[in-house]
Amino acid sequence: MKLLVLALALVLATPALPASAHPRPPRDLRQLAQQTGVKIGSAVDIAALRAESDYRKVLNREFSHVTAENAMKWESVEPERGVFTWADADTLVENARRNHQQVRGHTLVWHNQLPAWLTSGVADGSIDATELRKILRDHITTQVRRYKGKIRAWDVVNEVVEEDGTMRQTLWLTHLGPGYIADAFRWAHKADPHAKLYINDYNLEWNAPKIETTLALVKELRAQGVPIHGAGFQGHLGIQYDYPGDWANVMRRFADLGLEVAVTELDVRMVLPVTPEKLATQATYYSRALSDCLSVRACREFTVWGYTDRHSWVPGWFEGEGSACLLDENLAPKPAYRALLNVKRPR
Ligand code: G3I
Repeated sequence: MKLLVLALALVLATPALPASAHPRPPRDLRQLAQQTGVKIGSAVDIAALRAESDYRKVLNREFSHVTAENAMKWESVEPERGVFTWADADTLVENARRNHQQVRGHTLVWHNQLPAWLTSGVADGSIDATELRKILRDHITTQVRRYKGKIRAWDVVNEVVEEDGTMRQTLWLTHLGPGYIADAFRWAHKADPHAKLYINDYNLEWNAPKIETTLALVKELRAQGVPIHGAGFQGHLGIQYDYPGDWANVMRRFADLGLEVAVTELDVRMVLPVTPEKLATQATYYSRALSDCLSVRACREFTVWGYTDRHSWVPGWFEGEGSACLLDENLAPKPAYRALLNVKRPR
């Protein structure tokens, strides 16, 4: 009896916390996005979206933001000159609409996955600089207009800076000169004035020369009044490398220029075979990346580059590496998935 009285007294003496101080842990990533206020997205494999009902179900349950992994790239949407193939991109946008997902458009100007008619035309001189500029303007205008009002953010230029901090010598730079970047943003803005326009790159999380050049470029563009609104950090990480510990500070430096920032393509690969220890380390990389994003007010989106090891670019590109995603091949959550659910926005 004495004990009961003591326990009751203790309960009464403890000041009640408001319900919001200890919300229930989120049940899935969609709820985590709601609780933290950051958009949580995934890249989407359109063939899987069409053919695999389990893939579709999990994608639509977990994610409130999506990016086409390949379907909006130039070779996908205009494989032959003047022949537009929008079916895959339309499928993604329509699925997003039905499932209340916002969309990142990826990507308007890149040096990879260009159609052969374009690269060979430039190489053999049948497309000169004046025509190339017009082709780029038409491409951006056509694609951005088609999805006007349906794309939250566009990766306007992708991977334009080299690892050593020089501007990447792409077909665009070589033939059009550095002004193509400002032009691309202006054309995209004209076609959809409400879309957020991003510069996007990998290794921007840690590589000093790339960071400095990209910051200088953004400053210059802003000074010229170019409509650039965001910096995207792809975040292709591997547990065999140190976690980029300065990432949040780098995000802040871009935010200080007036940009929003986003994690646009996160995955965390490992050297195979998979072990419980490696999965535990991978979980810390994923949760640190989300914590970094949540520690920067301007970080609006946290997107993974595919959510399941069943469809991941990693094994095809890095021999002997894999298991980079949050869910395994059978769509079972890995420790990294559970670790994300426990990340809180810092007070
Ligand atoms: O479309 C062809 C298909 O017709 C053919 O049958 C098949 C045979 O291999 O290849 C298909 O093309 C592949 C394409 O993905 C579409 O699935 C290419 O071989 C393959 O190289 C291509 O890889 C993509 C890669 O970009 C190309 O650069 C990856 O799926 C995609 O995840 C990756 O994504 C990039 C981001 O856009 C930018 N940041 C880096 C990221 C990872 O590399």
